[in-house]
Parts: sequence; C-alpha cells; structure tokens
Amino acid sequence: MKKQRVIGMFDSGVGGLTVMREILDQLKDVRIVYFGDTARVPYGNRSREELIRFGEESIAFLIGQGAEVIVVACNTSSATALPTLRERFNIPMIGMVEPGARLAVEKTITGRIGLIATETTVRSKAYSSEVSRALSKGSSPDDSVLREAWQQGEAAIALVKAQACPLFVPLIEAGLANSAEARGIARTYLEPLQANCVDVLILGCTHYPFIEPVLQKILGENVLIIDPAQAVVEELKILLQRMEGGGLYGPVEAPTGSVLGKKHWRARYYVSGDPGLFRQVGNTLLQEPIDLVEQVTPGE
Ligand code: SIN
Repeated sequence: MKKQRVIGMFDSGVGGLTVMREILDQLKDVRIVYFGDTARVPYGNRSREELIRFGEESIAFLIGQGAEVIVVACNTSSATALPTLRERFNIPMIGMVEPGARLAVEKTITGRIGLIATETTVRSKAYSSEVSRALSKGSSPDDSVLREAWQQGEAAIALVKAQACPLFVPLIEAGLANSAEARGIARTYLEPLQANCVDVLILGCTHYPFIEPVLQKILGENVLIIDPAQAVVEELKILLQRMEGGGLYGPVEAPTGSVLGKKHWRARYYVSGDPGLFRQVGNTLLQEPIDLVEQVTPGE
C-alpha cells in the first residue's frame, strides 16, 4: 500500500491556508499538519533573527508531529530565514519565493513584474534575486523580453517593482479582507504598480490571495495575478514523487495523548494563539470546516 506522506506547513497565522487550500485540492493522498503562529502574527516587520528562531521552533514541532516535508507557507520567513533553516534541519523544505518568482518570469509578457509583500520581504530583495536566477537559468519559454534585458546587462532588480503592504495582514487576520477599508487601502498600495504598467502581480504574502478579488477589480483583467501557491504545489508533487519508495522520516499517526490523535485525519491544525478565532476566520477563508485545532507553544 502506498505510504501516505505527512506534509508540515507553517505560517504566522491564517495566510498559509491559501497554500493549504491548493494542496488539499490537488494532492489527495497526503496528510497535512498546519501550524499558525497566531500569538506572534504578524511576521512582516520581525527581524531576521526572530524569524529564524520562530522557524526553528515551528519546524521542530512539525517534525515531532510526523512531518516528512516542510512547506514554509510564509513569504517573510521564506525570504529571510529559509536558507538558514535549510542548513539546520535535515528535511526537504519548500518556500514560497523561488516557485513564485519562476512562475512570474514564465507568465510576464512585457517583463514588468509587480510584487506586493510585507516590508521585510520587500527589503530582502529575495524575489528580485530569484527572478534574476530564473532568468540566468533560462527556465521559462516565454521570458524573451526579460532575457533580452538581462543580456543587455540590465539587472532584473529594475524589472521588479515592489510595494510593501503592511496593513493587509492585520485586516485579513481580522476577517476584513472584503471591507471598504481594505478596498481603499488596496487602491493606494496598487497605484505605483499601475503607474509602472506591470503586467503580472506576484502576491508575495500568503495572506494576500484572500484579498485577490479586490485587487483584480482595481487592476483590471489585463494584469495577471500570480499566487505562488500553485507553483509550490507543483514543486511539492515533484518532491513527493522523488521520495516515493523511501520512508524518510518519522511516524504518520498523531502522537497519543493529543486531542487531535484521531486515526483518520486529513488535516490537523495547531496554533500558538486563540484556537476559536483561528477556527472562525479559517473556516471562512478555507471554505470548509476546520474542526481539529489545538493550541500549542512550540519551543517550550
Ligand atoms: C506576516 O505575518 O506579516 C506575513 C506572512 C507572509 O509574509 O506570508
């Protein structure tokens, strides 16, 4: 019988549920353990040292729950802490930035890539670096404009127009993604990107897909919105295929004693903050009931 792999995911809060949704829809034979660090959300203006420590605690916790692969479902952590986390843990990890940047390079026609993200992600320039890397590898069949610019010595950094959107995460965590307030703020954030005529927009924070309809309405149909989650799932499929045949890590069952220790589960959720609030906001955002939520404090 095929082994059901356990995927461990973490994010600062409910944002990673956008990646969760994609995995649930596309990978039917995996189990997922999700950790939302809701007691410490938002991550968007945390220092690199803090993000490394939070990442270490989350990953150690998820491995303890039987995770065999880690999805860092938070762009801020992926952009700053992931290289260090990869050095510290012997477990395959997929972040948000590389797959998202590759997808943007593949999809842009004009070569004008827009990015919205947290302050920390924007400051890290991780997306610009990954766009450069994708171009130098020539990984896309449709990137001729970008590749030409690259060949002319024009840094890809100049081709990615980034905008920090610090107010989006608190609004989404509060369940206000579709409010008049969110729409007004979105219009202000998107203005410089529209002025730069971007033809693709990377949602560089896993919370942002929840506000995507608002963004699309403002940008119009000529701008393609890119959710890196789709590319992350493709990468995950390849990784799982490679792992096929060899059980790499820990147990599949939930630890005994856990209130979530049921035999038949598809997804289990852990949060560091209030499980009731996570369930309430998460149910709406994920569009399916989130029953199994337990409060934990990784690192203790
Ligand atoms: C945050 O918690 O501020 C952002 C999460 C992300 O970058 O995806």
